[in-house]
Amino acid sequence: MTTDLLTKPGLFATLDDQPLDAMLTLLHRLRSDPREGKIDLGIGVYGDETGQTPVMRAVKQAEAHLYQHQTTKTYVAAEGDAGFIAALAPLVLGDSRARDDRFCGLQTPGGTGALRLAAELIARANPEARVWLGTPTWVNHRGLMQAAGLQVLEHPFFDKATQTLTFDAMMSVLETARGGDVLLLHACCHNPTGAEFTPDQWGLIGDLCARKGLVPLIDIAYQGLGHGMEADATGMRTVLDKVPEAIVAASCSKNFGLYRERIGALWVKAQTAQTALRARGNLILTARTMWSMPPDHGASVVRIILESPALTDLWRAELDEMRARLNSVRAALAAAVPALSTIASQTGMFALLPLERDQVVALREQHGIYMLDSGRINIAGLQSDNLPRFAAALEPYLQGDTHAR
Ligand SMILES: Cc1ncc(COP(=O)(O)O)c(C=O)c1O
Repeated sequence: MTTDLLTKPGLFATLDDQPLDAMLTLLHRLRSDPREGKIDLGIGVYGDETGQTPVMRAVKQAEAHLYQHQTTKTYVAAEGDAGFIAALAPLVLGDSRARDDRFCGLQTPGGTGALRLAAELIARANPEARVWLGTPTWVNHRGLMQAAGLQVLEHPFFDKATQTLTFDAMMSVLETARGGDVLLLHACCHNPTGAEFTPDQWGLIGDLCARKGLVPLIDIAYQGLGHGMEADATGMRTVLDKVPEAIVAASCSKNFGLYRERIGALWVKAQTAQTALRARGNLILTARTMWSMPPDHGASVVRIILESPALTDLWRAELDEMRARLNSVRAALAAAVPALSTIASQTGMFALLPLERDQVVALREQHGIYMLDSGRINIAGLQSDNLPRFAAALEPYLQGDTHAR
């Protein structure tokens, strides 16, 4: 290597420094905190009453079956495992839509892969489309849409101080959306707020999309953890039935506990079966240039579970246990902290506490309680032994006059 080459700045030197990932920073702080009894409400994975995230029993059994019967590790297709899609579609979309040839689906690496692929498809079909995100939303939504070159706009979704949905404000801002714009919605268990639309509100959203020609992009990452597999999809299906075109991005990370296996699915609803096939061809082509083929393990596990009535029953029972635990922690927290009574009627793994950043920092420094700077907590990080301590530490911060002390 000549010194001449080293005097030039180089390709990577032109890159901007990036802020450290907030979640990783929090995790690092938590791990290096020597205090006993720290409470980790940061990372978004389910934890049981002992604080563990075990492999589900149905998953273990499906893995044992796979180990015994899998005969090759050759590539799967770019669209993934057709049996997985066929087995999952009725659970996510419902039977009638799963049979409707205006819907086409393919396997993706996690819900994230589904959203990223959806963004690419939208950009390919209509680069002028703008994507409307509710505020607040999952932090990755903006980046996933922008990575495909799409413009992102916001509408108000939730008021943290009053813990209420700002539905009227949302609908009036969405009146300014253009035909062809995309409306990103959480089907259930909203991350980070836990807030949900009523059935009537879902109907109104569907009507608005149909009237204005908006394309709903529905992110369903926590199905089964709110009210149950069917109930958590009902609002989404109401919208799907009202519009000619829509996209559904599903994740099996949480409801099958398969986080690291990266398993999800994407469905497109098109106006005709022929257009659905065209969309499918474009999805496959795009997937080929992003990950070529999706990983197989998670898809095989989900397929084996869903193709076996006994394993499906076991999986559903475990999912029911997870949901029951989340809902009982919500009830216990609401009872212990009356100012947080809304938590009991919210759903899923998250709540966005009405705290300012300085209060979040104070809770961390003074009490060893770790949550995102936004005030988002993972409900599943609470257990019967740490909940009373958390409630006692939190209470003064919700009185309205307690900032960093
Ligand atoms: C709202 C939402 N959508 C999608 C995802 C993506 O999940 P994964 O890519 O792990 O399947 C997450 C994960 O945290 C999420 O919270």
